[in-house]
Amino acid sequence: MKLPLVELHLHIEGTLEPELLFELAARNAVTLPWASLAELRAQYDFTDLQSFLNLYYRALDVLRERIDFTDLTRAYLARARTAGVRHAEIFFDPQAHTSRGVPLHTALAGVRDALDGAVKDWGISTKLIVTFLRDRPAAEALQILREILAGGVPIDGIGLDSAEVGYPPELFTEVFALARAHGLRLVAHAGEEGPPDYVWQALDLLGVERVDHGIRSLEDEALLDRLVRDRIPLTVCPFSNVRLRVIDTLADHPIVRMLDRGLLVCVNSDDPAYFGGYIDDNLAALDTEFGLGPDRLALLARNGIEASFLTLGEKAALAAEVDAWRSLQP
Ligand code: ADE
Ligand code: ZN
Repeated sequence: MKLPLVELHLHIEGTLEPELLFELAARNAVTLPWASLAELRAQYDFTDLQSFLNLYYRALDVLRERIDFTDLTRAYLARARTAGVRHAEIFFDPQAHTSRGVPLHTALAGVRDALDGAVKDWGISTKLIVTFLRDRPAAEALQILREILAGGVPIDGIGLDSAEVGYPPELFTEVFALARAHGLRLVAHAGEEGPPDYVWQALDLLGVERVDHGIRSLEDEALLDRLVRDRIPLTVCPFSNVRLRVIDTLADHPIVRMLDRGLLVCVNSDDPAYFGGYIDDNLAALDTEFGLGPDRLALLARNGIEASFLTLGEKAALAAEVDAWRSLQP
């Protein structure tokens, strides 16, 4: 039996593996700046978030047709299944596609097509969270949100991502207010490269229910008190933090300190095609590095379940499966 996992911080565009990227380039007659898989992989040496985003947005050029978005999403779900993922709340960046001429509906409906078959095909329930690029104008995000609300493709929530420093959450207050008024769930990246103040803003101005990354919250004791008191989840992504040089090495990662501080943290993969592995790889590496053992692995899995947007009944059912897994471990 695999440890049943929930993944809450996963950019579907960040699951674009080099092999699929080359296949889609050939299918869509897109000329790539990289001559081979090896030449593309040689670009995966990032110095910070922006250096990664430059490649991430460039690589998306191969996604042109609705079926491309479906194939991308199906490939993730197939891999997630082998990791033991039972529920995934997936981020999708519409502006990364509309800004290069792909219609919103083509991209969004393509992802949705794959999610609609996810329970049947892989035993994975899903939610779809549209993430807005904070380094583009809030007016553009508002326009896209209005189009999505008026259109026929259902979503479950909104989030905020892309280059963080210089783009504080307060810029997006109106966007989040509109989403809340329509009953959407709210999350935001904050405290990845940006200061703890951005986490406060995400909580108090945007009203987010969950913070993506949030690791710089460790610099602010009052913020930690608030996160612990209100059981605000932080979706932590260890491989991402190391590869984007937010943390020097995995051995320096504060995940255990965060657990010990009483924070509701869970482990996620962020952009697994670029950062060296999927959610199971992240957990296995942490287990090796810190000797987490079955109790803390089960705690991380239960935290993911609690942090999700599943119903209480669905959470209880999955948590019982985690307990069953734990009872089979030494
Ligand atoms: N978009 C994709 N991955 C991201 C990350 N780690 N931070 C901000 N924006 C992103
Ligand atoms: Zn992210």
